[in-house]
Amino acid sequence: MHSSIVGTGAYLPAQLVTNAELARRIDTSDEWVRSRTGIRQRYIAAPDEQTSDLALAASREALTIAGIAPADLDLIVVATTTPDMIFPSTACILQAKLGASGGAAFDVQAVCSGFVYALAMADLMIKSGAIRNALVVGAEIYSRILDWNDRGTCVLFGDGAGAVVLAPSDTPGILSSHLHADGRYRDILAVPGTVANGKIQGTPFLHMDGGAVFKFAVKVLAEVAQEALSANDLPSSAIDWLIPHQANIRIMEATMKKLALPIERMVSTVAEHANTSAASIPLALDIAVRDGRIRAGHYVLLAGVGGGFTWGSVLLRWH
Ligand code: ACO
Repeated sequence: MHSSIVGTGAYLPAQLVTNAELARRIDTSDEWVRSRTGIRQRYIAAPDEQTSDLALAASREALTIAGIAPADLDLIVVATTTPDMIFPSTACILQAKLGASGGAAFDVQAVCSGFVYALAMADLMIKSGAIRNALVVGAEIYSRILDWNDRGTCVLFGDGAGAVVLAPSDTPGILSSHLHADGRYRDILAVPGTVANGKIQGTPFLHMDGGAVFKFAVKVLAEVAQEALSANDLPSSAIDWLIPHQANIRIMEATMKKLALPIERMVSTVAEHANTSAASIPLALDIAVRDGRIRAGHYVLLAGVGGGFTWGSVLLRWH
């Protein structure tokens, strides 16, 4: 038994905010943000939009392409760091908004690696025969956990959602997955606050040691890509498309260089979307599938890294 992606979908909120617009509010410039990160703009959710709404729009697209009805989903996994509420899970809220019930639904919290973690779990559940159809979503509203006066972090992130439908197949779509974490690095990227006794305890805003994150991300993205290649006995030249987590163009380019892969084989959306955390990989996947870059037979390597620290890969062969 194998699993394969049979539909992809994406959603970006309507409000587009350019670097120049941010530079009118805080002490930054388009030139600074572009040259350090590759980011030109980001999308920001409307006040009445919740993460489950972004997830819903992306999921509907993916289900339509897959030709699978919400009622036929055995599993919904939402990778998110910015859930609608503490509980119930955003996956349960999404399930109700899709008009489905009865299948399993839960969230995965692995920050920017969340989509890769969620996809790996859904694949393993299908391969085990436990379930048939799964909806795997990465959805985030980072704009609500950013300190908009902190120019060191607020310029880096955006909101959005990407979704895939995974179904059983005779031939392998997903070839392998590898997941890792090292909690000793939990402090270099965190929203260290929580809610207790009716009050926010600690800070509800994202904090980051940018330099440490940069070094860690370059190291583990290349390592996890290499691990996937070794496990499948493939040279790096076999990879048609690398879709790394879209944090920063310099991290992504350094990863390609370490793998000796030409930059043309990387899917990059960081300029248009900024870093959308768990949504970044499925958003990039959807775009490259829709514009025809990813075609049948292509080897596509997804490589995530995020707070925790967490990192992981999924290698797939497009159907
Ligand atoms: N505009 C203008 N100046 C700024 C801004 C800004 N938005 N932000 C910081 N600066 C200033 C700093 O205050 C500092 O000024 P100083 O020298 O007077 O003190 C100067 O620019 C240099 O700051 P650095 O932090 O050294 O800049 P650096 O070149 O390291 O770039 C950056 C910072 C872009 C955050 C980089 O460290 C980075 O990309 N790190 C990776 C972080 C990342 O991608 N995080 C995403 C989340 S992680 C993930 O998704 C896995």
